[in-house]
Amino acid sequence: MAGRIRDDDVRAVRDAVPIDAVVSDYLQLKNAGGGNLKGLCPFHDEKSPSFQVSPSKGLYHCFGCGEGGDTLGFVMKVDHLTFTEAVERLAARAGITLRYEEGSAVPGRQQGERIRLVEAHRAAAAFYVEQLGSAEAEIGRKFLAGRGFDQSAAEHFGVGYAPAGWDHLVRYLRGKGFTDRELITSGLASESRRGGAIDRFRGRLIWPIRDITGEVIGFGARKLRDDDQGPKYLNTPETPLYRKSQVLYGIDLAKKEIARTGRAVVVEGYTDVMACHLAGVTTAIATCGTAFAGEHIKILRRLLMDNSTAEVVFTFDGDEAGQKAALRAFEDDQKFAAETSIAITPGGMDPCELRLAEGDPAVQRLIDGRTPLFAFALRSIVARYNLDTDEGRVAAVDAAVPVVAAIKNQALRDRYAIRLVGMAGISTQAEEQSMIRRVRAMARARAAGGGGPEQGRGGPRGAFAGGSAGRQERGADSAAPAGPRGPRLDLRSPAHRVERELLKLALQFPALVSPAFDAYGEDEFTGPPYAAVRRAITDAGGAEYADGDYLLRVRDAAPDDTVRGMVTELAVEPVMHKVPEIYASEVLVRVRLLAVDRRVTQVHATSARLAAQGVPSDSPEAAAAANELWALQQYAQRLRVQGAAAL
Ligand code: CTP
Ligand code: MN
Repeated sequence: MAGRIRDDDVRAVRDAVPIDAVVSDYLQLKNAGGGNLKGLCPFHDEKSPSFQVSPSKGLYHCFGCGEGGDTLGFVMKVDHLTFTEAVERLAARAGITLRYEEGSAVPGRQQGERIRLVEAHRAAAAFYVEQLGSAEAEIGRKFLAGRGFDQSAAEHFGVGYAPAGWDHLVRYLRGKGFTDRELITSGLASESRRGGAIDRFRGRLIWPIRDITGEVIGFGARKLRDDDQGPKYLNTPETPLYRKSQVLYGIDLAKKEIARTGRAVVVEGYTDVMACHLAGVTTAIATCGTAFAGEHIKILRRLLMDNSTAEVVFTFDGDEAGQKAALRAFEDDQKFAAETSIAITPGGMDPCELRLAEGDPAVQRLIDGRTPLFAFALRSIVARYNLDTDEGRVAAVDAAVPVVAAIKNQALRDRYAIRLVGMAGISTQAEEQSMIRRVRAMARARAAGGGGPEQGRGGPRGAFAGGSAGRQERGADSAAPAGPRGPRLDLRSPAHRVERELLKLALQFPALVSPAFDAYGEDEFTGPPYAAVRRAITDAGGAEYADGDYLLRVRDAAPDDTVRGMVTELAVEPVMHKVPEIYASEVLVRVRLLAVDRRVTQVHATSARLAAQGVPSDSPEAAAAANELWALQQYAQRLRVQGAAAL
């Protein structure tokens, strides 16, 4: 292990780097009076800033969660570093050469693992950049030129090229003193069949992915040649440095502008981030091969602060936009939804293609022409109906009402109730008042935990995908703690029993239930504590990406000690079968089938209600219910026959 760093060096490092400069890498700070600064705490979820920094004392303290300490403690905690690694990180930043008690001035191999991995990435990034100038990389340079990126654009983003051989990078980094073990851990190399290290990225264009402080922590690599059998983009796998649920490509370049302007633009790819920045939209960022989710929101929120004008703009192409927006409107994080806008690219182009076709101003116009999320979601739902008939108008309103009712801010909800009436073309004062009453009633029912048949939506996929359907119910009453609610667990209930088994499998044998499990909605867990555990797994990045820290992350993601206790319990209680490999698919299918059955019951009730009201069976509402029933029954049948293959 590393030799002890000399005490006076530690002191020098602590004094050399101001705490506010370090903290500002992760969150926006503003004046809190008395010489202190404040911001949103990176260690717990909060909406108004209780995290305070005292530059003169060199300390931070969060009045919300009680975390506190000095600069080194902050760096250790926020980036999960050991003490030695934190000192090394800050020393590098301050240009201080550390001396170790019983070692040399150049500690080399004694350094902490993380620092070694960061150094390997730094060297690799430089290697790739240099290779972009080689003869072999011509195809890569052509690709960039074809996307509208010249040499200075490539340099600004550090784009490089990975040569096509087996071990160019590996040999280069070995020459710099890195071991094969380090290269494999870093994700830069993969393990060959004979146990040696071979380059992970070969014959591809390379984008360095940096963390918020600007360190390269991974790479995205695009296929260039037809004989490359791999996927279009290959990214660094999960490593101690690189966690894709927390990575935002471009955040290092965008963070200052995001904090300054109170706006972030979320696009979908490396080339889109480049195109936006070059077009002057310098707040653009993208996730790397994963959906934009909980952790990403938290990172942005800390930069945006709790600012009433803060805004996050998502760009979508026209086809998928409506659906995505509607789903997002239901997500639990309504503060975020209220600040979200949607910018629709014309003709299915992404921002990179738009810039190529129409130039920089078109990218600017795209962002300027954004629409608030709720308005967009309502408009795209209403657009699916024929508003020339009374039936169509009624059906459009019925379909859109749950979205309005899900809006937690009451003033905003009432405003959208009025807008909905207008969109459906039934704008009278009486209709407005009755709509406001209707959404208020539905919102109250939702807050009370009840869900009428009106709450369900979509087909089997829509209703269960991604957990958003379950989320709309949770926390509807924002004053209540986030913990479990509702009926107590009843282990004699077959649903609760099998849900419990599935969660045990997901915590103890995540690989056996992946990737299916991550697509299970919270609404498939009828036991409220189970839904909370399911949610914690999502917030921790999902079962598919379980690594050594998985259970710790799930525990950390639990909203309170009750849920955390439940996570621990389920992580240790043995599963009720000797061969979990076989059992896993069976349990996945049983949970899904129970959810399908519940939905069938709901839709039957809707049909019955419609019939009782004398709504004709060929009306859009009745037809929608019949279609959904049919789809659900087909799906249930496939599940029974094919088992997990039908998931
Ligand atoms: N992506 C990925 N893995 C894939 C495909 C896509 O991780 N197999 C991610 C990459 O981050 C990529 C983004 O999704 O940048 C968008 O993908 P896509 O639109 O297919 O690529 P573009 O960025 O538009 O690239 P190109 O211009 O080369 O088509
Ligand atoms: Mn694209």
